[in-house]
Amino acid sequence: MYKSIAIDGPSGSGKSTIARLLSEKLEFLYIDTGAMYRAIALYIDRLKSEGSVETKIEKHLEDIDIAIRHENGIQKICLNGEDVSDDIRQEAIGNLASVISVNANVREKLVALQRNIAKKHNVVMDGRDIATTVLPNADVKIFLTAKPHTRALRRYKELLEKGMEADINDIEADIIKRDERDMNREISPLRQATDAYVVDSSDKDLDDTLTEILFYVKRKFDERS
Ligand code: DC
Repeated sequence: MYKSIAIDGPSGSGKSTIARLLSEKLEFLYIDTGAMYRAIALYIDRLKSEGSVETKIEKHLEDIDIAIRHENGIQKICLNGEDVSDDIRQEAIGNLASVISVNANVREKLVALQRNIAKKHNVVMDGRDIATTVLPNADVKIFLTAKPHTRALRRYKELLEKGMEADINDIEADIIKRDERDMNREISPLRQATDAYVVDSSDKDLDDTLTEILFYVKRKFDERS
């Protein structure tokens, strides 16, 4: 039986960084499910045809192949064979990923892919619906959150470090809009599982957040062994 750790939370809560560090410590595979939604969003964004996002999904979902591979522990995401790991990080693609993720067929396709991976590997998987829908029997469930302003500030600093222009107010407004969409969609909304440990990283640095989560993970693993 393979082990799984589910980490859910809103965008900018630090899930990806924490999940990656945790996976390195435990020597588990890190699976960033947001990257999968982003890759589908990128495909839709590149389509030149007219029509609504929903129509494009309906027409093209079958043509979209999402695969992940790992290079030195780093997840690479491939869209129909092309490595799109960098392209999917644009703000606009993140926002479009939130839009396309309300679609039932998109979710069905990606949830199947995610479950399949967890059947074959020990995983740390992060997303919005991992503990509630994708892996309801995950060994450890973490809900990682932080105040919208803190998350916006982190994102703002990240963009400045990359030499990109950014407006903190726009980022915070986008974060709030994205939270609302992710939490209020009909299928698998972002919600904390009843048996998840809730970690608020607003006033904690990365080390403290990781230490707290590792404590929960070890305790759960000890209980189960
Ligand atoms: O975590 P992220 O910012 O890369 O995710 C982008 C969007 O994808 C997010 O706003 C909602 C969607 N998503 C989802 O619906 N379910 C997941 N498990 C992961 C992401």
